[in-house]
Amino acid sequence: MHAEQSHSIASVAGADTSADGAAQLRYLATRVNEALAAQAYPSQPEGLYEPIRYTLEGGGKRIRPVLLLTVAAAYGASYEQALPAAIALETYHNHTLLHDDLMDQAELRRGRPTVWTKWDANTAVLSGDTMLLRAMKLLSDCTCERWAELYQLYVDTFVQVCEGQQMDMNFEQVGADSVSIGEYIEMIRLKTSVLVACAAKAGGIIADADAADCNLLYAFAEKVGLAFQLQDDMLDVWGDPAVFGKANGGDIACGKKTYPLLCALSAAHGSQRAELLQLIASHESDEAERIRRVTAIYEQLGVKQACEEAIAAYYDEAQTFYQLLPLPESAKSPLWQWAVQLMGREK
Ligand code: IPE
Ligand code: IPE
Ligand code: MG
Ligand code: MG
Ligand code: MG
Repeated sequence: MHAEQSHSIASVAGADTSADGAAQLRYLATRVNEALAAQAYPSQPEGLYEPIRYTLEGGGKRIRPVLLLTVAAAYGASYEQALPAAIALETYHNHTLLHDDLMDQAELRRGRPTVWTKWDANTAVLSGDTMLLRAMKLLSDCTCERWAELYQLYVDTFVQVCEGQQMDMNFEQVGADSVSIGEYIEMIRLKTSVLVACAAKAGGIIADADAADCNLLYAFAEKVGLAFQLQDDMLDVWGDPAVFGKANGGDIACGKKTYPLLCALSAAHGSQRAELLQLIASHESDEAERIRRVTAIYEQLGVKQACEEAIAAYYDEAQTFYQLLPLPESAKSPLWQWAVQLMGREK
């Protein structure tokens, strides 16, 4: 065993200065990367396992396992206790990416070709399925007392992600003016936010935190998760592809009903609104030109600022739940540090 692995993570994740907090989060992400790299996947059949190695070694911010480990530490659990559930969650997340990129026909992720483009659609399906099952196996390695509760949380969350993904696909098929902001928020809550919330609550369950604390942790991370997906929608339009790792305008190209689009529609009138609706619906015409036109309309309407305001509002809600957590500030501050790091993210 690595010497550091026997430490309680409370000792590294408990300090309250922000420089220390950032270092702790980096430390945990490194440990997650090490643990993922140590996962043995068979060499054969190569067509099944090579795409899994490619995916798990291909970077990623590791925000969900880091959150889980941070919460577990804040509530006094050891790193060893929390690690299998953290790695399970990251493996599951990577599974969703293989399927999501196929569903979204996205060609770039983490600055590299997606699995369905580098290999093919069948590979994305089957390697993705294998990662899901590997995630469940890792979860079964978790030895916490409240294992049944943890298991149910994971399975319920994974089903919710499918529900959100189905809503996302359904929304592609309808006019942009028939999806309300409320429906959009419910869709992103399911496809993205519940997994982040699951990470926080899982850390609480593993550390045997009170049910009330677990619910606060869930609510806190759910709000950050909503802000996180709004930011993802924004970065899809304005992110630097070299940093963000995904191509610009992918959401516009496939007619996704994103927050920027819904904001733009609520502000646009007359011919501009008609043009926007038509650009989003017309899948056949020149894609690059459609992306350019839609982005120009967003800019004319101040959509970026509206997105930033909505993100800030979700962070305020998250902070309210964070403040209600009945832990000393020194124990819980790494959690807020985790949220703050995501706020300014460019990837
Ligand atoms: C991508 O998640 C999928 C969304 C929910 C937007 P991340 O942005 O966490 O992806 P990686 O793992 O860091 O690449
Ligand atoms: C994220 O939705 C939800 C899941 C991956 C389950 P997106 O489709 O916006 O995620 P990216 O932008 O491809 O990472
Ligand atoms: Mg996608
Ligand atoms: Mg998607
Ligand atoms: Mg996206």
